[in-house]
Amino acid sequence: MDPRIRLWVMIICCEIIVVAAVTDLNDLAALNALKSSWKKLPRNWKGSDPCGRKWDGINCTNSRVTNLVLAGIGVRTNDIGDIPSLSMLQYLDLSNNRGIRATLPQSIQNLKNLTTLMLVGCSFRGPIPDSIGSLKQLVFLGLNNNSFIGTIPPSIGNLSNLSWLDLSDNQLTGTIPVSNATSPGLNFLLKAKHMHLSNNRLTGPIRSQFFHSNMSLIHIIFNNNQLSGPIPSSIGSIKTLEVVRLDSNSLSGPVPQNLSNLQTVTELYLSNNKLSGPVPNLLGMNSLSYVDMSNNSFDKSNIPSWFTLLPLNTILMENAQLQGELPIDLFQPHLESLVLSNNNLNGTLDIGNSYSSDLIVDLKNNSITNFVQSSGYNLSLNIDNNPICESGSTGRYCTARKPNTPNNLPTNRCPPLKCGSSKILSPNCKCTNPYTGTIYFFSRSFSNLDNATYYTTLHNTLMSAFNSSRLPVDSIALSNATLDEFNYLQYRVHIFPSSQDHFNRSSVASIGTVINRQLFPLTFYGPLFFLDENYCCFPENKSSNHGAIIGGVVDGFVVLLLIASAISYGIYQKRQATKAKQNTPFGTWGVDNGNEAGGVPQLKGARWCSFEELRRCTNNFSEDNVIGSGGYGNVYKGTLDTGHVVAIKRAKQGSLQGAKEFKTEIELLSRIHHKNVVALVGFCYEQGEQMLVYEFISNGTLKDNLTGEARIRLDWIKRLKIALDSAKGVIYLHELANPPIIHRDIKSNNILLDVQLTAKVADFGLSKLLGDEAKGYISTDVKGTMGYMDPEYFRTHQLTEKSDVYSFGIVLLELLTARSPIKNGKHIVTEVQEAIDRPGYPNGLYAVLDSALGALQTLGGLTKFVDLAMSCVQESGADRPKVGEVVREIESIMDFAVLSAGGDSSLTFSSQSTGKVGDLYHPYGDSVSDASSLSVPFESELRR
Ligand SMILES: *[C@@H]1O[C@H](CO)[C@@H](O)[C@H](O)[C@H]1NC(C)=O
Ligand SMILES: *[C@@H]1O[C@H](CO)[C@@H](O)[C@H](O)[C@H]1NC(C)=O
Repeated sequence: MDPRIRLWVMIICCEIIVVAAVTDLNDLAALNALKSSWKKLPRNWKGSDPCGRKWDGINCTNSRVTNLVLAGIGVRTNDIGDIPSLSMLQYLDLSNNRGIRATLPQSIQNLKNLTTLMLVGCSFRGPIPDSIGSLKQLVFLGLNNNSFIGTIPPSIGNLSNLSWLDLSDNQLTGTIPVSNATSPGLNFLLKAKHMHLSNNRLTGPIRSQFFHSNMSLIHIIFNNNQLSGPIPSSIGSIKTLEVVRLDSNSLSGPVPQNLSNLQTVTELYLSNNKLSGPVPNLLGMNSLSYVDMSNNSFDKSNIPSWFTLLPLNTILMENAQLQGELPIDLFQPHLESLVLSNNNLNGTLDIGNSYSSDLIVDLKNNSITNFVQSSGYNLSLNIDNNPICESGSTGRYCTARKPNTPNNLPTNRCPPLKCGSSKILSPNCKCTNPYTGTIYFFSRSFSNLDNATYYTTLHNTLMSAFNSSRLPVDSIALSNATLDEFNYLQYRVHIFPSSQDHFNRSSVASIGTVINRQLFPLTFYGPLFFLDENYCCFPENKSSNHGAIIGGVVDGFVVLLLIASAISYGIYQKRQATKAKQNTPFGTWGVDNGNEAGGVPQLKGARWCSFEELRRCTNNFSEDNVIGSGGYGNVYKGTLDTGHVVAIKRAKQGSLQGAKEFKTEIELLSRIHHKNVVALVGFCYEQGEQMLVYEFISNGTLKDNLTGEARIRLDWIKRLKIALDSAKGVIYLHELANPPIIHRDIKSNNILLDVQLTAKVADFGLSKLLGDEAKGYISTDVKGTMGYMDPEYFRTHQLTEKSDVYSFGIVLLELLTARSPIKNGKHIVTEVQEAIDRPGYPNGLYAVLDSALGALQTLGGLTKFVDLAMSCVQESGADRPKVGEVVREIESIMDFAVLSAGGDSSLTFSSQSTGKVGDLYHPYGDSVSDASSLSVPFESELRR
């Protein structure tokens, strides 16, 4: 035989074997389509055999893709693309990718084998499709923390295997669907254990047929909606219930008496409703440990007997018409919090001597006339505004504060190591790059955050969950226990890698899945969700040449076999694309405008808005809706048809741009997606108008909050957080945006604060794309704002990222001083430098520091912060740090400041509490309680 022929036969034989092992061609085509339309997919998605060559995030059975887990790896897309064609998919987790700004298409119904659909914490928008009700195998449906709008599809009731339903933290409207003659409803979900619908805009009553005894619900989480009408008494028939959160709605009428049948409920939240009638009798709820019924309209009542007869550790009943004297046997060792402010309690307060030393008692605004304390514990008691305070005898409790107890920090015995760059010292004394995020608990059965039992339980449960999933986790550190505005307990969590100094994509994705899927039993805590922070440090895949060549040979043949299917697939895609273009208003771009703009703008995540829609949603651009104005025109507040509240920047005549410039600007803005940068929602280019539609940021500009009238109290930690957030926004623009962007106009007026005081960088009116040719861009027109402008740029007209660093330094100085950059002709840099040069530094800083910051000694990390700000405003750009370095330094200052703030947080514990509740569990343990051991990665540069 001709040797050449023999070779061919051999190759063909091999090829047959290879083909038998490779991925199904349809699945491959779908994944390849994702590759072409999604950004930041794993780097090892190469070649043509995802199953055989183990692409990150993909698992297969019999050549079919069954698992797709891309959680937390930063993928970006505006379209979920061809995922619905992965027809054998069982497990889909795209959680924690804020850059997925897609809708969920009806075609999701093709995933008939799906058991788990996790899209937690992405930016999904649009309605939840009806067709989701045909995914009959679904056990877990987590769509929480997105921007879904519209109503809850009744078809979800058809998901007869569903155990976990989480739709919380969206913008859903309408009622909770209940079945009727023609339509299913959520009351059909007999296997559902979890129903989380909180933080939406749901309205209407909870119908009585919604609850029935065949359900297996353990968690009803309906808080923070606009539900109205009575609590149906049928709720008493669900004997499996453990957590009931109906708080912060408009529920009215009496609380049904048979609630007390619920013997396994541990947590009951009914606060902030309009409930009336007698204070409910909860005797019979023998597992209850946490009850919150504050702010309702109950009838006047004496202290109910269940206060002492049930094993309660937390009783929150502010403003509930309670009267009479508190019984001494209420103050048992297991009681952690008693908040009964704004009632009519009177007589003597006798707290006996068996109460816990961590007990928190808030009895503000009552009529208590006498106080007896048999033991000497220094408890946290507030009896301000009671008659007893007028007599002056119990003074220290009349303006009570949390006593300054040391927190239960987990100790470690690390030497005072310094870690370089972004690394952090793990509890096991290794410098590694942790995966970081926040765990939010919908509920908990306790309130004493100083009790280490609760921390330890969570810590050990997570560790063993990681261990049993064989994840390479060395250790975890929980910190910053906080209660947010929804009374969710949150912990920041650092998860440290074990085998290397960083995690790879698979590990990060699996860690996110393990936490959010919550298959581990966790005592003391209700259900949770986990939102991450972008992981810094994925390894760059440098596949060896050897592997690439072998792969190339095999792939070459597979490619041949694939060509037919690929060609037909390509034609299909192209047709779809053409169709889409014709259907969108972008398709006409340039036609209306004499073609000057040269074609359709390439938008990513922003949409076209009609003049009519914007006119309507601003009430015909009414003066009342104006929230800002400048040389370019006015900014209006409005609510789009989709329900999004937006800020609309309308250019006035004279400040209109050319069509081309406008197009460039919206293309640029639409590419920007980061939580610390204000997002463009849409634009309007019609009827001679140019408008940019941004997300509305409710708490206004940083400047207004530092100096304005309606300012929010920004303490030191909050200011550090704002500095950190804004620096992260800037680093995104400089290093991650594509192409990179120099902002050119960073100032406190362009930093906005949202509801949670997350800072977002706004307004790229002057921004420059930083393409290759634009590095060190030289411009004839120097733009920016006086006081913030980089003097070097002003002199040389040469723009670099360091110009933004200068402006950012000025913002840091504003955070310190709350004064304008130029005041009475004096520049803030000069002023602060003089304060530094005064003898006795840092005491001389008093003269320039914002008085609202309080005592200098309480500002942990102050001098480091001053050093940092001053290094940013160095004369020469080369002497200034990069934004990345600024971020790391602020992080390290923040860790230090939080630690030194320690137990000093003035704590009022109530259902309304939004503040920090101490910073209990610091990741770095005791080893950093000394400032000198904190690492300052670029100290040498600072002092140069
Ligand atoms: C901490 O909480 C646990 C569980 O509720 C309890 O058993 C223990 O007594 C508490 N410890 C203190 C010091 O209060
Ligand atoms: C982790 O799991 C293995 C077995 O799966 C067990 O032997 C080991 O003790 C576990 N480690 C921890 C810290 O739980």
